[in-house]
Amino acid sequence: MDRFRVSGGGPLAGEVAVVGAKNSALKLMAAALLAVGRTTLTKVPDIVDVAVMAELLRRLGCGVEHDPATGTVTIDVPSELGHRADYELVRAMRASISVLGPLTVRCGIADVAIPGGDAIGSRGLDLHADGLTRLGANVHVDHGYLVAQAPNGLVGAPISLDFPSVGATENVLMAAVLARGTTVIENAAREPEIVDLATMLVRMGAEIEGIGSSTMVITGVTALAPVEHEVVGDRIAAGTWIFAAALTRGDVTVRGFDPRHLGFVLDKLVDAGVVIDRQDDGVRVTCPRRPRAVDVMTLPYPGFPTDLQPFALVFDALAEGSAMVTENLFEARFHTASELARLGADVRVDGHHALLRGRERLSAAPVVGSDIRAAAALVLAGLAADGVTTVEGVKHVDRGYPSFDADLRGLGADVRRESVADGAF
Ligand code: UD1
Repeated sequence: MDRFRVSGGGPLAGEVAVVGAKNSALKLMAAALLAVGRTTLTKVPDIVDVAVMAELLRRLGCGVEHDPATGTVTIDVPSELGHRADYELVRAMRASISVLGPLTVRCGIADVAIPGGDAIGSRGLDLHADGLTRLGANVHVDHGYLVAQAPNGLVGAPISLDFPSVGATENVLMAAVLARGTTVIENAAREPEIVDLATMLVRMGAEIEGIGSSTMVITGVTALAPVEHEVVGDRIAAGTWIFAAALTRGDVTVRGFDPRHLGFVLDKLVDAGVVIDRQDDGVRVTCPRRPRAVDVMTLPYPGFPTDLQPFALVFDALAEGSAMVTENLFEARFHTASELARLGADVRVDGHHALLRGRERLSAAPVVGSDIRAAAALVLAGLAADGVTTVEGVKHVDRGYPSFDADLRGLGADVRRESVADGAF
């Protein structure tokens, strides 16, 4: 088992670049299934989740090559595909569920293991299932698998999502592009990663109107063609470095993403007293004095992203004054709060609210990160703690960040990986 060893220190300074977004690259890889032939994706992050998705596509019959040096993934999709995503892979990565829509429409059947419990809440699949049912699939659960059957193909339909789920919007969109007739998705999610997916689908020959809005109109076509596509810059990784700069009161330039994709987050930080210089492909963040605590409420895009909520907790734990952080998307996403308390933060959780009173400095301790963002946020907390903090959860961080600790060291942080023997007691 690996953990991070983080020495509390001074401000971070320098420049860091992000590559393509994990949450887009995985879906674009799934979307490749829709076109026979070779799809090429560039700026793909070199992370464990991409390797898991590559393995899943291989088991479906695709040839997949990933060159981490250039960030290029090529996917050769055969005309005959397998249609089963095993529990082993879905358990390793919940985003495996995004092959459900493409497989149903390409093969007339898909069986995808149900992911089961998740460290950040129950995360149902009802909206995915309902959407495909509306398109004419017979969807049922069979021995731990979600099975969608549509032997005669899918037929476009009006679909109104109860909640703008990112995953359900993507699955319905990917199924609808090859369905017969017109699908209207109301209350669609409109995250930049969905815009990226829809943009690639249009370049493949799909007909989609309303991209980036909450109503998408999709007119099905009979076939799509493979394309080459660059993955949109990772706004969540960028947000991670922006918070790192702010809470160490540093001076960091973050490149490789569109600052408009973090508009709400950047406005919050400006309210808190952080200085943000927005540029074409990134931002410069400076924080000359202790920032003020700010209330944060997570919401679907363009609201404050839930994936940056753990960083907001660390920020408010160190800011001047009190603030409330409200989590509206995932019911069990306050694990970071209890670990922050181990670092001396003044934080109380009540349901989906966390109330924080900022402290000037935290105090190092061993902590455990339970998911990608929680573990990353605790490392950043360790940078603002006196002493040496150890953070378990390296495997989570490696699922989402291509070079997390190396990037931090590049900004002057003292962060290392160390191995610890399992079962010490
Ligand atoms: C995606 C992102 C994740 C991000 C989340 C919200 C990927 C790989 N992951 O996850 O990083 O935190 O969007 O921005 O892209 N829900 C249901 N039934 C469903 C689907 C969702 O109840 O059928 C609920 C979930 O339990 C959750 C909420 O809707 O409470 C949001 O989920 P969703 O937007 O679907 O997130 P994911 O696509 O799983």
